[in-house]
Parts: sequence; structure tokens; C-alpha cells
Amino acid sequence: MSIKHYLQFKDFSREEYDHLFQRSIFIKQQFKTYQPYQPLKDRTLAMVFEKNSTRTRVSFEAGMYQMGGIAINLTTGDTQLGRGEPIDDVARVISRMVDVVMIRTFDHQIIERFAEYSRVPVINGLTDEHHPCQIMADVFTFIEHRGPIDGKVVAWIGDGNNVARSWLQAARVFGFKLHVSTPPGFELQAGDDGGEHLKVFADPMEAARGADLVTTDVWTSMGWEDETEDRKQKFADWQVDVEMMQIAASNALFMHCLPAHRGEEVTADVIDGAQSVVWDEAENRLHTQKALLEYLLLGKI
Ligand code: CP
Ligand code: NVA
Repeated sequence: MSIKHYLQFKDFSREEYDHLFQRSIFIKQQFKTYQPYQPLKDRTLAMVFEKNSTRTRVSFEAGMYQMGGIAINLTTGDTQLGRGEPIDDVARVISRMVDVVMIRTFDHQIIERFAEYSRVPVINGLTDEHHPCQIMADVFTFIEHRGPIDGKVVAWIGDGNNVARSWLQAARVFGFKLHVSTPPGFELQAGDDGGEHLKVFADPMEAARGADLVTTDVWTSMGWEDETEDRKQKFADWQVDVEMMQIAASNALFMHCLPAHRGEEVTADVIDGAQSVVWDEAENRLHTQKALLEYLLLGKI
């Protein structure tokens, strides 16, 4: 039987997301009412971080403990990966000792290679190209607040990065429109990820016009720190502010995967304002990823 991995948003069908979201509601309810739910007793998750993390680390680690299992945290610096051990060998070894692996790394090919040599499911905790766990939580959060996302308009303002690409894949799976505005030179390379669901705007205000959800991310992602100053100049007009939220739908939500830089990609009055659901969004990483772990390890329950 082939192993199921979660490397890109499009790895799961609409039906699978419907299942995951239904399980997320149950798992969240158990958590909120202090009722133990421990279907992963004696199961081990290995987490490999080649980049920094707060939310991904805490949500996966806390999630495993809460479900009765354990999580092992590995970073490049404290493993042989940092001394050049080939990823194929690391995958072969780790996957003989644990039940599931989560990786945050640079080039997406690294995680694909790991998955190829792994005996257990591999989860993408962010690569340069994709951040599917984030968008799984984001779509769940939208549905919690506003009902079905099908047919809605999501506006992406800023860098055509990993988070944007996962949003585009989600647009195809869920049938919504993604309005994207990026500074010249930072376009989203759509490829076959859902081009017909993508509408590109030169003017960020036009991308936000009438949108049901406005979302953005840092101007400089991890790995591009050398470009920080240059990007500050080029991205200056791609800031989500009150004026932009006013041009969106009257009940539009604001999301940001976090960490955020107030005064750069978003103003404080938007991220800390009434339309922002960023804290629910961050919390839902925990509940949706617990559903993901349950699904990958135990199948449909
Ligand atoms: N949004 C997100 O993935 O956050 P971390 O980098 O803190 O994990
Ligand atoms: N695009 C950001 C997301 C961080 C969660 C990055 O890759 O750094």
C-alpha cells in the first residue's frame, strides 16, 4: 500500500478536506472542553526544522502530546544534516524509528526526496514553495467565521511566495477566486496550480475590491533576508491598511499566517482590528494538524 504524504495543498481532494475539517471540529471541541482524546498513544512524530518556527513547532508538538503520542524536535544544527548527511539516508533512518515526520526546509525538492525514501508519512511544515498546513488552517478558519468558501474572493496582497502558492492550490480544490497583486518581479508563478482561479492585478486596491478575505504575508520570507532592504522599497505600496479593508466586502476578514511586521505588510489597526481573525487562524493550526495526524496515521475515522 502506498504511503500518504502531505507535501502540497493539492495532495488532498475536496472530500478529504471535508473529512479533515469535520474531524477538526470534533478535535477542537474535545480540547476546548478538557476532554482527553488520545488515539495516537505510543506514536512518535519526528520534526525536522531547517528554518525557525513558533506556531508550526508548538502546534505539532503540543498536538502530538495531546493525542497521546510524543514529538521529537530536530534542527539542522543538532543533527548530522548540519554536517552534510545525505537527505536520502536521513529519511531511511528516521522513518524506521518513528511513525510520521514533519519537515520545514528550503527547496521543495528536499522534502520530495525525503518522502521518496521514507517508510512513513511526511508532512510539509513549510518549504520555499509551499505551506499547505497553514492554508488548511486558514480555509478552516474562514469556514468557521463565514461558512463555505466556495465561490468567494480571496485577495492576496504582497509577495508571490510559498503561502500564496498554497492559497492558489486551495482556490482550485475549493472553487474560489484568488485575486493577487504583487510588486513587479515578485509575481506568483502559477504553473498548473489553478491558473483559471487566479486573477492578477497591478493595483493592490483593485485586488482587494469586494474581496471576502484579504490576506498577506511578510515582505521578506525566510531564506531571502539579503533582499530585506531592497524589498522594503519595492513593497511599500503593498500594505494592507484600513483604506484597503474598506474597499473589500463590508464583512471581509483579514488573515496573516504570522509572524507579522506591523507597519510593513499590514498596519497595526488592521491586524489588531475587528476584521482580523489572526489569533483564531493561528490556534486552528493546532486543531487541523491534529486531524491531519489522525488521518495520516489511522485513516478515516
Ligand atoms: N505561520 C507559521 O508557520 O509560523 P511559524 O513560522 O512560527 O511556524
Ligand atoms: N512566507 C513566510 C512564511 C512564514 C510562516 C516564510 O517563508 O518565511
